[in-house]
Amino acid sequence: MDPAPSPTVPPPGTAMPSATIPPSAGIAASGPRARLGVREARGRFSGGRGYLAACTLGLPTRETLAAMRADAEEWSLGRADAARYGAVVERVRSGYAGLVSVPVGAVAIGSQASVMAGLVAASVPDGAEVLCVDGDFSSMVFPFLSQRHRGVTVRHVPLGELAGSITANTWLVAWSLVQSATGAIANTEAIVAAAHRSGTFTLCDTTQAAGWMPVDASRFDATICHSYKWLCAPRGAAFLTVSARLAEELNPAQAGWYAGESPWASCYGPEMNLATDARRFDVSPAWPAWVGAEPAIELFRSLDLAEVRAHAVGLGDALCDGLGIDRLGQAIVSWPDADGQGLGRLTAAGLVASGRAGRARVAFHLWNDEDDVADALTALGR
Ligand SMILES: Cc1ncc(COP(=O)(O)O)c(C=O)c1O
Repeated sequence: MDPAPSPTVPPPGTAMPSATIPPSAGIAASGPRARLGVREARGRFSGGRGYLAACTLGLPTRETLAAMRADAEEWSLGRADAARYGAVVERVRSGYAGLVSVPVGAVAIGSQASVMAGLVAASVPDGAEVLCVDGDFSSMVFPFLSQRHRGVTVRHVPLGELAGSITANTWLVAWSLVQSATGAIANTEAIVAAAHRSGTFTLCDTTQAAGWMPVDASRFDATICHSYKWLCAPRGAAFLTVSARLAEELNPAQAGWYAGESPWASCYGPEMNLATDARRFDVSPAWPAWVGAEPAIELFRSLDLAEVRAHAVGLGDALCDGLGIDRLGQAIVSWPDADGQGLGRLTAAGLVASGRAGRARVAFHLWNDEDDVADALTALGR
C-alpha cells in the first residue's frame, strides 16, 4: 500500500493548529535515529519501583504526562484544536509504522483491540473457520465467537498446537503473540509457515509484546496492538496493520468521518469517499489519548528493542531462578495461585502485581531492575 496522504486538512473556517504543544521531535523524521539505552529510558519514568504490572497497564513517561497535562490545559481554555489533534494522530501513525516495520499506509487507528478484531471478524466469510488459542485474551476471541450466527466456526487449540492445527479449511488464524495469562510466546515461524502453506490469513495481537520485544508486523496479514501496556501510551490508542491481500477482504464496517480520504471533507453523507489505504479502517481518534501516545511511541522508536527484551527477560529469568522453576525466557512470569496467596503476599509487601486465570502474574519492563526481583522473592518467602 502507498503511504497515506495527510488527512489533517482542516475544514473551512477551522483555526490553524495552535502550536502550544510542539510535535515530539523526530517521530516521523527520516535518517538515523539516536539510540536510547535501557538505563537512560528508565530515567524517563517517575514511578516504577515495585510496579510489576506492565502487562496490565503501562506507566507514562514524564514526557507523556507533560503532553497530556498541557493538552488538558489547552482544552480547558477553549484552545483544543481538531486539526492539531489530527496532526498528532498522523505523526503517531507514522511513528508506529516505523516501529513495527510496515508502510504507514498499512496502519489503521482506533481505540481498542476488540473493536479492531471485530472489524476483521465481521469480514470472515459466512461458514468459514477461524482458529484461536485456548485461553487467549477475550478481545481476540469474542469478536469471532460473535459471528456464529452466520455459521462462522471458531476452533480453540492450545498455543503449542496452533501451527499444527491450521488446515486448508481455516480462513483465519488469530492469536496473541504473547499470551496475557501466562506470558507464553507463540512460535511465529511455525504458525506463519503453516498458514502460508494452506493460504490461511494470519491475525496476530501484539498488545503484550510490542514494547518489550522487537515486533515485525509485516510478517502477518494483520496485527492488532493496544498501546497502553508495554508501549506506555494512555488507554485509547490502538493500531491495526493490514496487508494488501487481507485489506481486499475487509469491509470497512466502522467507517466514519476519519476513514474518509479527506476526513474534513467526509463529515456528512450521503457521499462516502473512503481512504484507499488502511485509513479506511480507522475509527475516529480519542484525541487526548493520542497526545499522550506521541512521546510514548517516540520513546520506543528510539530504543534498541533487543536490548529491552534482554533486560526484561533477564529479570523474568532471575525471578524463575529464585522461585525454583525453569527459566521461561519471558517478560511476564506467572505461576498457579488458585487461592490468591502469592498475589496477596506481593500486594501486602507493597508490590503491584496481578492475578489472571488462577495464576499470579508479574511483569518486568524498563523501569524494573534486580531490586524488584529481590523484593518479589522476599515477599514470596524465597
Ligand atoms: C493480548 C491482549 N490484547 C488486547 C488487550 C486489550 O483489549 P482491549 O483493547 O479490547 O481492551 C489485552 C489486555 O489485557 C491483552 O492482554
